[in-house]
Amino acid sequence: MSNKSVIKSLTQRPAWKALATHHKKIAKLHLRELFAADKQRGEKLITEAAGLFLDYSKNRVTTETIKLLLQLAKESNLRGRIDAMFAGEKINITENRAVLHVALRAPKSAKIFVDGKNVVPDVHAVLDKMTGFANRVRSGAWKGHTGKRITNIVNIGIGGSDLGPVMAYEALKHYAKRDLKFLFVSNVDGADFVEAVHGLAPAETLFIVSSKTFTTQETMTNAESARAWLLKGLGGNKNAVAKHFVAVSTNAEKVSAFGIDTANMFGFWDWVGGRYSMDSAIGLSTMLAIGSENFRALLAGFHELDEHFRTAPFSENLPVLMALLSVWNTNFLGAETVAVLPYENYLKRFPAYLQQLTMESNGKYITLAGKKVNYQTSPIYWGEPGTNGQHSFYQLIHQGTRLIPCDFIAFAHALTPLGRHHDLLLANVLAQSEALAFGKTAAEVKAEKVPDALVPHKVFEGNRPSNTILADRLTPAVLGRLVALYEHIVFVQGAIWSVNPFDQWGVELGKALAQRIVPELENKILPPLQHDSSTNNLIRRYRKMKSPT
Ligand code: F6P
Repeated sequence: MSNKSVIKSLTQRPAWKALATHHKKIAKLHLRELFAADKQRGEKLITEAAGLFLDYSKNRVTTETIKLLLQLAKESNLRGRIDAMFAGEKINITENRAVLHVALRAPKSAKIFVDGKNVVPDVHAVLDKMTGFANRVRSGAWKGHTGKRITNIVNIGIGGSDLGPVMAYEALKHYAKRDLKFLFVSNVDGADFVEAVHGLAPAETLFIVSSKTFTTQETMTNAESARAWLLKGLGGNKNAVAKHFVAVSTNAEKVSAFGIDTANMFGFWDWVGGRYSMDSAIGLSTMLAIGSENFRALLAGFHELDEHFRTAPFSENLPVLMALLSVWNTNFLGAETVAVLPYENYLKRFPAYLQQLTMESNGKYITLAGKKVNYQTSPIYWGEPGTNGQHSFYQLIHQGTRLIPCDFIAFAHALTPLGRHHDLLLANVLAQSEALAFGKTAAEVKAEKVPDALVPHKVFEGNRPSNTILADRLTPAVLGRLVALYEHIVFVQGAIWSVNPFDQWGVELGKALAQRIVPELENKILPPLQHDSSTNNLIRRYRKMKSPT
């Protein structure tokens, strides 16, 4: 099927219809029955690539389900979509842009063209510039305005210009240079900035202003406050800014207007979406923390998974299979969310990172053809590291009324081995997926001599689907593979649901309305309010509360 060929709307695709019929047939099947019917199921419904082992056997699927889902991928022209992305075609049609985060981690020898220009040399030029800068800061060669070395690095950014850097810093803290302190400021709530710089010496602090557009209200407000804080701390000499501020952006003009020397600007391109940018210059704080070799290992990990995604048959392709299973869970089993549950404390910000990646990408009700969908698109992604979640919301996953598919992520080795901790951690993750799948029957509960009245409370229906991803240990390369895995899951979901995962028009309305409300809160004289009666009233009440006189 060529990329240009017309794809039927999702519910008209033959495989979709076949899946609907198939679902009726197998909807009542329990995972207990599926496992009983095939003793080797847990050794068959698995796949492995780039050091990530995926067990998807605890999903409510048969081999027929998988066959039909693969057929759906074919009928959705997934192959054509993948090829188009890697070829630099402008698949982000609403913004007329190529989508080439895969070029950010391509080796120097690769050639990837946008508008006839190979972008790989530019990518590597920025990487080299980042490396030079990171080496100078890490070694202490880069000095602040008063001649002191930098010990605090504050990344100012929001959304993709924050979540990736924070997540990666937390995930790879084990590899970080511990005499550098890293802080992340995103929220326009002043508390975020004030708490981040509390106790920091301006003379030893470097700010990285990270913003693709360099116009985002939150980031620019925080950057202004940072500049004022720095200048106040260093006696007001404006020359200090050059030594304490660098920028990561695609917008050189705005960077220079802010007063940052563009020699200290690290660029990227419009073909990198914000939520796909942690491996671009937006990862500068990551490189400063873990060093350029580790950063390049992270990129190599991304690239390995990219190559797997691009070349592996769909039936063995991790992102393709996981995406198709999520489509099955969402559109046929009616699941509304996916819980991502890393059993690795360093991945504590991974679910938050995935929320932007998945939901800003596929939280859409309009198809590529501009029509309203008649099916669900992105589920809600959420999660917490295990075992903490077990003592809070797992009750609902086990015995609640909703179906919550789970992605468990675990590692064979701890980065910080400590007594029995790791075996206990792993025992828990394995126990959870087992309990969710197989539950506990009334007969099993009764056999434990539980009083009759308590039996229903102690029964676990089971039949709750999950994936388990197992890797060796959390290295920079493994983190790269994991992030790339979810990036490509999102891509495949978008292809099936026929939505554009690369724009985010849904965030614009609130931004525009906030701009309109700002003067209505700040002006001395209240301008005539033309909102609805609720908003008007809230504005008046806020004004009264903030200055009662
Ligand atoms: O709010 C939406 C958004 O555009 C995200 O997609 C993006 O990651 C974030 O804002 C920050 O944008 P920028 O990097 O341009 O400041």
